[in-house]
Amino acid sequence: QQGDPVEAPAFLAASYACQRNTPQPGHNTLLTAALSVLAESAELNGDEGRGLAFRRSEGLLRSLDRRVQGPAELRGLPCLGDHSRRVIQDLLENGVSSEVEETKSSPRYKAMKLLTGIFGVGVKTAKRWFTEGICSLAQLETSGHSLNAAQQAGLKYYTDLNQPVSREEADAVSVMVEGVVHSVLPGARVTLAGGFRRGKMSGHDVDFLITHPDEGKEEGLIHKIIACLESRGLLLYQQTTRNTYRESAKGAGRPSSSMDRFERCFSIFKLTNDSSPEDTRRAQQDPERVRVEADQTGSGGRPWRAVRVDLVVSPISQFAFALLGWTGSKLFERETRRWAVRERSMSLSSHALYDRNQERYLRASSEEEIFAHLGLEYVSPTGRNA
Ligand code: GTP
Ligand code: MN
Ligand code: MN
Repeated sequence: QQGDPVEAPAFLAASYACQRNTPQPGHNTLLTAALSVLAESAELNGDEGRGLAFRRSEGLLRSLDRRVQGPAELRGLPCLGDHSRRVIQDLLENGVSSEVEETKSSPRYKAMKLLTGIFGVGVKTAKRWFTEGICSLAQLETSGHSLNAAQQAGLKYYTDLNQPVSREEADAVSVMVEGVVHSVLPGARVTLAGGFRRGKMSGHDVDFLITHPDEGKEEGLIHKIIACLESRGLLLYQQTTRNTYRESAKGAGRPSSSMDRFERCFSIFKLTNDSSPEDTRRAQQDPERVRVEADQTGSGGRPWRAVRVDLVVSPISQFAFALLGWTGSKLFERETRRWAVRERSMSLSSHALYDRNQERYLRASSEEEIFAHLGLEYVSPTGRNA
């Protein structure tokens, strides 16, 4: 391949995901799905570096504006390491990759995926359980392990939480959240973030960012929202964290850490059928599914389902950064932060942007301004599906 005459690349692509427009699902879904499996497998092994390499390859392929037909078209493209290129070549030539197939059917991958699919269970915990021979939910339940409150809820609502949230369900949750937020703080603003803001048709949860145009009015808001949701019987589980962010003289927080310090709540909502027309329709069309779920929870033909919801409260002065940070995708965020540090000597977080050369924070009241500070062309939310 290296001795071949150099041809003009079929299509040009920039090396940072934040320099590209990446629609969902893209034109190379066979390739991106395969690379995603390898990335996930590496992540489940705790091998972050390897996972990131596959994620970058996946992101690059998703951003291409047409389908790759043969290996020659990969020439000149950035982000593709030797390993990814081998897998892609296999897929293009044989339609399958033996490595991907072996990964998908390996007991370790299957068990780790199942265990980390429990809300509240991370890679470390899942690994420990797998090492002890736990490969199924039944084995976990009889293992005698004591589970924390999040994990207990995760196990209880396992089926629901592993069924993708539809656009209609996300809209129904939006209506619920807006109603509650406006009742506890008139004038507060609720913005849908995460995958649904990027135009995805389904997701693993629904993410909201909440703010108020008068700085300070948002303080303590999360507790009022939770209290109201609870009084209306809309919450099955919640874990709230208070805001611990303070600007420091040395610059924007810890940009290497993906955790931010907003007031926020990881929760599980009880979405009833009457709040979601789609659910009612599905229940009518497929009574069998409802029966199976009822059997699993022992709740007897229940007219509701559990949905994961993230609520984040931001002061208005940090809102643009919070919105950029909570819209994703995860790779797009990582790449934007990497671009900021390496190409601009700036630290970007979900709270602020700090210019290390000028030794000062750069303010922004819109995402457009943040891209401009970073010297990046604006990428709309629907183009951030790297
Ligand atoms: P699905 O929910 O799977 O459909 O995709 P998603 O892109 O919405 O993923 P998710 O809900 O996990 O995260 C949405 C965005 O919030 C992503 O950009 C994440 O990087 C970001 N995010 C999630 N958790 C945190 C966190 O603890 N801190 C910060 N700063 N960002 C987070
Ligand atoms: Mn999400
Ligand atoms: Mn989320």
